[in-house]
Amino acid sequence: MQTKIVNLSESINRDTVIQAAGQCICQGGLVAFPTETVYGLGGDALNPQSAHKIYEAKGRPSDNPLIIHIATVEALSSIISKKPEQADVLMEAFWPGPITMIFEKSDLVPMETTGGLTTVAVRMPEHQYALELINATGGYVAAPSANTSGKPSPTLAKHVIEDLSGKVDMILDGGLVGIGIESTILDLTGEIPMILRPGAITKDMIEEVIGRVEYDPSIFTMEEERIPRAPGMKYKHYAPQGELTIVEGEERDVICTINKHTTSLLAKGALVGVIATNETAHAYLASHVKSVGNRHDEETIGRRLYQILREFDEEGMTHIYSEAFATTGMGQAIMNRLLKAAGHEVEVAYQLGGN
Ligand code: TXA
Ligand code: MG
Repeated sequence: MQTKIVNLSESINRDTVIQAAGQCICQGGLVAFPTETVYGLGGDALNPQSAHKIYEAKGRPSDNPLIIHIATVEALSSIISKKPEQADVLMEAFWPGPITMIFEKSDLVPMETTGGLTTVAVRMPEHQYALELINATGGYVAAPSANTSGKPSPTLAKHVIEDLSGKVDMILDGGLVGIGIESTILDLTGEIPMILRPGAITKDMIEEVIGRVEYDPSIFTMEEERIPRAPGMKYKHYAPQGELTIVEGEERDVICTINKHTTSLLAKGALVGVIATNETAHAYLASHVKSVGNRHDEETIGRRLYQILREFDEEGMTHIYSEAFATTGMGQAIMNRLLKAAGHEVEVAYQLGGN
């Protein structure tokens, strides 16, 4: 298949391009497009054939449900069968924005889209091109992240092109995404709302609006008896080709520990990459050191993380070390993704002691 790639910021006839992309989705085609979180791979959410095509293009198991993207609050009512009381205030507070909510689905939504579940995940993205695209379709766009299953979600069109060129009809290039980490998923079908995947909309932010919510306990462990309630979280997650270890502790101890490992690995001919911060990057001995941004700037860290992991894979690192980041605010989501990529491999830095 010939994939049409269009750079929307350079395109003088953006409207025409987005209308054509919308038509393509209506006719059963697949279009990758930017959202504020990561790039999505869009198809008609109400067409079972489109869901099949999405699973095939991504190489994704078909029991892993897709998120339906909508552009208006009114669009919600036809795809859900029950609206929990908290939904309205949540939508008011956070939509359009990086939070996906799970509802009981209506009959309009094919089981292919929900991976056989009777619930449906819905989100309204906060991205002008994404909203324009959804409006150019029937209003319901099923879109998982636009990566090959098992790779980090794409934060640049370049990543989508690497993974899906030749497998989808169109790729819309909207530049670097704003957030870089997938949306928060909040399940509203149980007694107490539950966060199934942490994201830029944090537990505190949600609790401020609706009171108590819980985390799905599987978010924090790898224990097999804890089966995640978001099916996608159970699959073997992205793991870089190199062995990734997170090192936590005092800054100085972390640097020393990583440098000690680097020295002995380099002597054995290994290729060592370090995920550092602007404050520490200069202190590492590895030849491949990449900064995710300022230590306390979660927003930049979120936006850069997947890109750096992809770059280290391309550069053939055999070992990757990452500093641990604070789990305040969006840091919770960042550490969740980093821990998964590392298979929960965390080393506590050797303490130097004294001053
Ligand atoms: O930010 C995002 O959410 C991006 C952009 C493109 O919108 N999309 C995204 O989709 O990350 P995906 O398919 O890569 O991840 C969706 C997650 C999966 O873990 C899936 O299992 C879960 O949402 N999910 C979808 N529907 C669900 C449902 N009905 N019940 C529980 N989990 C569900
Ligand atoms: Mg995904």
